[in-house]
Amino acid sequence: MKKIFVNGGKELVGEIDIQGSKNSSLPILAACVLVSGISCIHNCPDLSDVDAAIKILEHLGCRISRDNNTLYVDSRCISCYNIPHTLMREMRSSIVFLGSILSRKGRAKLSLPGGCEIGLRPIDLHLSSLKTLGVEVDESFGDIKCEKTKTVKDAVVSLSFPSVGATENIILASVFIPGQTTILNAAREPEINDLASFLNKCGCDVRIGSGGTVVIKGVLCAHGCEHTVMSDRIVALTYMSAVGAAGGNVLLKRVEPNTFLSVIPVFKEAGCKVIAQHDSVRIISEKRLNCVRDIRTMPYPGFPTDAQAPVMAMLCTAKGTSVIVENIFESRYKHVGELVRMGAKIKIEGKVAIVDGTDSLHCAAVTATDLRGGSALIVAALAADGKTAISGINHIERGYENICGCLGSIGADIECIECNE
Ligand code: EPZ
Repeated sequence: MKKIFVNGGKELVGEIDIQGSKNSSLPILAACVLVSGISCIHNCPDLSDVDAAIKILEHLGCRISRDNNTLYVDSRCISCYNIPHTLMREMRSSIVFLGSILSRKGRAKLSLPGGCEIGLRPIDLHLSSLKTLGVEVDESFGDIKCEKTKTVKDAVVSLSFPSVGATENIILASVFIPGQTTILNAAREPEINDLASFLNKCGCDVRIGSGGTVVIKGVLCAHGCEHTVMSDRIVALTYMSAVGAAGGNVLLKRVEPNTFLSVIPVFKEAGCKVIAQHDSVRIISEKRLNCVRDIRTMPYPGFPTDAQAPVMAMLCTAKGTSVIVENIFESRYKHVGELVRMGAKIKIEGKVAIVDGTDSLHCAAVTATDLRGGSALIVAALAADGKTAISGINHIERGYENICGCLGSIGADIECIECNE
């Protein structure tokens, strides 16, 4: 089993190129299923979740080649419409293939993705929206069987919650429906814009309006295109949290600060200097941080739930008490127990986490149980005294490309080692 070892207390100084976005790459790879052609996708991060998406694409009939962070996806021949449990189980967000397979094959069969460490992750909004589009849905024996039984022109799908995945699935299921499909209260995450940009380059017609309205005008087919995936805003925020926690002066390059503007004030309130340019952010942390009194995770453009864990880790050693409210997922505090093992003083009251800043954290043997919670343990370990051992790093590898190499390049004493126990 691999573990990450971090010798904390080292200042972070230097520059990091931020990877392409996991949460944009995955829906774009799913979108390739409805493209009758060859697509070239640049800045695709090297992650286990991307590997899982590639396996699904190959199972469906795509031919894929890879040149570092560029993927060539030949989806001219899609031979089947089902995703078996073994592949669905590898990555629960594979549900986003549903809309794309329906558009290409008119039917789809997937196993229910199930929940994960951060919550039950229901897909009721996905399925009810597809029914509005004329899709018959049968959920039985742990499978979802869908079939387009009628064409619903000019449908209006109103989401009760701006679900990112449901918005992506509706868009992917609508691109070939004649007329115009409208989504109300759609998710406004930047990854949705990136997906629309990819689809429009493929000849689709997806218009992201203001206030969470998306209009999809049906086209006859989609051809291949060349696209560069947007920068990963959550990875950028994670590394900013690392600098905040450990101290230092780091330039993050190949980022899009306008995709995380709502979080920058949090770093400034904590006492970091943040200088945002068009495609870079410099963060400077020279003294013990101040607490941040009110962080509430919200749908975009609010504070992103994916940044909650690493920012919490940064605030564990701040002066004073920080208050965080997790409004998006019902059990996204699994990392708190592990941070407490490192000396953090955190109390959970339902959705609310109360973080009493301590002078310091100490090393411990800790376990990552989910992707962002795992990154939070690394952030905390960078600030802690002594050598922290982090297991469960398979969770971290789902979303962070070469995290040890990146942090090591700016001065962190961090390594990933194969261990027996
Ligand atoms: C996407 O998940 C991201 N994953 C998540 O990132 C991110 O945390 C989330 O959006 C919110 O921004 C990918 O893009 C691959 P949702 P998704 O549907 O689409 C409830 C990470 O760490 N809901 O917006 O699953 C749901 O239970 C991951 O990179 C329903 O109730 O998020 C949750 O409480 C974690 N019914 C809330 O909505 C539904 O049908 C937000 O879910 C769908 C969702």
